[in-house]
Amino acid sequence: MDTGLQQRLDEMLQDQSWREPHQLGRRIDMQEQWERAFVHAGDCLEPSLQKRGEALMIELEATNRRLYDVIRADIRHGQGANSLLQWAAAMPRHGDEESYDLLDALVSGVLDLAEPGDVPELGAEMVFYQPTPARHIFDFIARASIGDQDTVIDLGSGLGHVTLLTAVCTPARCLGIELQAAYVASARQCAQALNLRNAAFIEQDVRLARLSEGTVFYLYTPFTGTILRAVLDMLKHEAEGRGIRLCTLGPCTEILAREPWLMMEAVSHRGSVALFRSR
Ligand SMILES: C[S@@+](CC[C@H](N)C(=O)[O-])C[C@H]1O[C@@H](n2cnc3c(N)ncnc32)[C@H](O)[C@@H]1O
Repeated sequence: MDTGLQQRLDEMLQDQSWREPHQLGRRIDMQEQWERAFVHAGDCLEPSLQKRGEALMIELEATNRRLYDVIRADIRHGQGANSLLQWAAAMPRHGDEESYDLLDALVSGVLDLAEPGDVPELGAEMVFYQPTPARHIFDFIARASIGDQDTVIDLGSGLGHVTLLTAVCTPARCLGIELQAAYVASARQCAQALNLRNAAFIEQDVRLARLSEGTVFYLYTPFTGTILRAVLDMLKHEAEGRGIRLCTLGPCTEILAREPWLMMEAVSHRGSVALFRSR
């Protein structure tokens, strides 16, 4: 018998306050603790102990699901900004730079995006999919002063986290442009399930996209080298006709910081989103 694991499970069950909705962080922590202990114990785990652990995990997940469903219903009824921003503010933030934390677990539960299977390999200079950590998306939303006159375009939108959350939390029109068809299908499905009429997704190479409606552009280093250069030239061309704003995360920030037609709006910490405005 694994007495250490047994003891840990007893401790988890002793204080039942994890059932309260706002204890989401604690529940996710308990799930992670059990998974780690379960992997560590391997085949030596006693069946009765395994059964108790699994039952607890099912209850934890069901409790989380009820919370996610409440937030999803708020979003569907147009109350998502209040609901989600309140929950996001209450979550402890542990992640640094580009790592993920509990807020990502909350967002993943709320969006409930269908996981696409294998996707075709991308061409040279195109960066594989990795979502912006949720705290950076909320930071972008808080700092970019996005209004109802804005059209926010995520260039290389992946599964659509930035577009979907911006559509929930702001009145702007939000557009994601992504090359991978399976990501676009999941993102569209999510927008429809959440009744997000201000979110749309286009399956396209950004180099062929029409950017003339965009007022705010988001780039989490989606491409590098000559592709980034070509897209920056397209954006520069747009900026000749009207003022545009850009938000970046990752190594592309350094490249944008050297563009003479752009100025950085505020000094950003390394590892956080940077905001630019066309001159
Ligand atoms: C680092 S991920 C960023 C995902 C998303 N913007 C986010 O922040 O959550 C880069 C995405 O850009 C997409 N991508 C790369 N090159 C592209 C291109 N030329 N046109 C459209 N999408 C592209 C990739 O498929 C990938 O989903």
